[in-house]
Amino acid sequence: MSQARHLLSVSDLGAEGIDEVLRLADTFAEVGRRPIPRVPALRGKTVVLGFFEDSTRTRMSFEAAAKRLSADVMSFSSSGSSLSKGESLRDTVCNLEAMGVDAFVVRHSCAGAPSQVAGWLSHASVVNAGDGAHEHPTQALLDCYTLSRERARRLGVHPPRPAVLAGLRIAIVGDIRHSRVARSCVAAFSTLGAEVTLVAPPTLLPASLAGWPVEVSHDLDAQLAKCDVVYVLRIQAERMKEQFLPSLREYTATYGLTVQRARLLGPSALVMHPGPVCRGVELAAEVADSPASVITTQVGNGVAVRMAVLYLLLGSGGSLGSGEAG
Ligand code: NCD
Repeated sequence: MSQARHLLSVSDLGAEGIDEVLRLADTFAEVGRRPIPRVPALRGKTVVLGFFEDSTRTRMSFEAAAKRLSADVMSFSSSGSSLSKGESLRDTVCNLEAMGVDAFVVRHSCAGAPSQVAGWLSHASVVNAGDGAHEHPTQALLDCYTLSRERARRLGVHPPRPAVLAGLRIAIVGDIRHSRVARSCVAAFSTLGAEVTLVAPPTLLPASLAGWPVEVSHDLDAQLAKCDVVYVLRIQAERMKEQFLPSLREYTATYGLTVQRARLLGPSALVMHPGPVCRGVELAAEVADSPASVITTQVGNGVAVRMAVLYLLLGSGGSLGSGEAG
């Protein structure tokens, strides 16, 4: 089994690799509940957070994860660095690697940027923290963790080993076209056996869905009545170069998870969202705050899942999965 040095795409992991991360995340979730939530696992390692695009929860979550593992953490962004003086991204990351950096957590508006960075580095690891509309692997992993653990908790059973979401009907609703979260989640959910349906207006679906293991629907009400999970996405206005919607009000009327629509959900259905939520647009505030919603649980679980990823890449000398990443 080849040893993965990077986490660039969730598809590199396979079901076994995903399960390995999820099982380790259980251990780190326990660390997070201790009075002093810190272990020395990555003492002496240095993690650089390279966020070249806006982020709150993902950046803070990786920072918390690295610090709870006792790694040294350095933050870096384009403004205030030599990138604004014309230095290339390649020179910047290679210089940082020369200072003894062990891992780069990279968010970038260009799809493929983390993979390029990985190709330039001689020994440091790269974790993709979201690249353009391409992938967001740790979001998908924390969502698989949340789904498997939350359903087990609510049903009063132990989380399945290995983690399977077999037969779970998941409706992913909204701006699939511009969503890296959708791409990584579809791959991860279907790898674990879930049945994924994309629910969106035709303009917010990718130009081609060839090879996507999904069904497609334009009827949210019909899907809500039969899904186990509704995963709502934000409209990614910052990535839209043309007009994809007549108006946000019309979008909310047809595809928003309103209070009235949420009544169609079954009693044990879960509402998920990667954040940030635009309350009143894709999701009503009352639904976001309802018992069905696990949105803050997703955020909380993100720290343990990212600890698991960093530990597997840097601390264990082992592999993150069966495939070779990067
Ligand atoms: C998402 C992202 O940045 O891709 N947020 C996140 O990382 N939790 C989704 C979004 O911005 O809508």
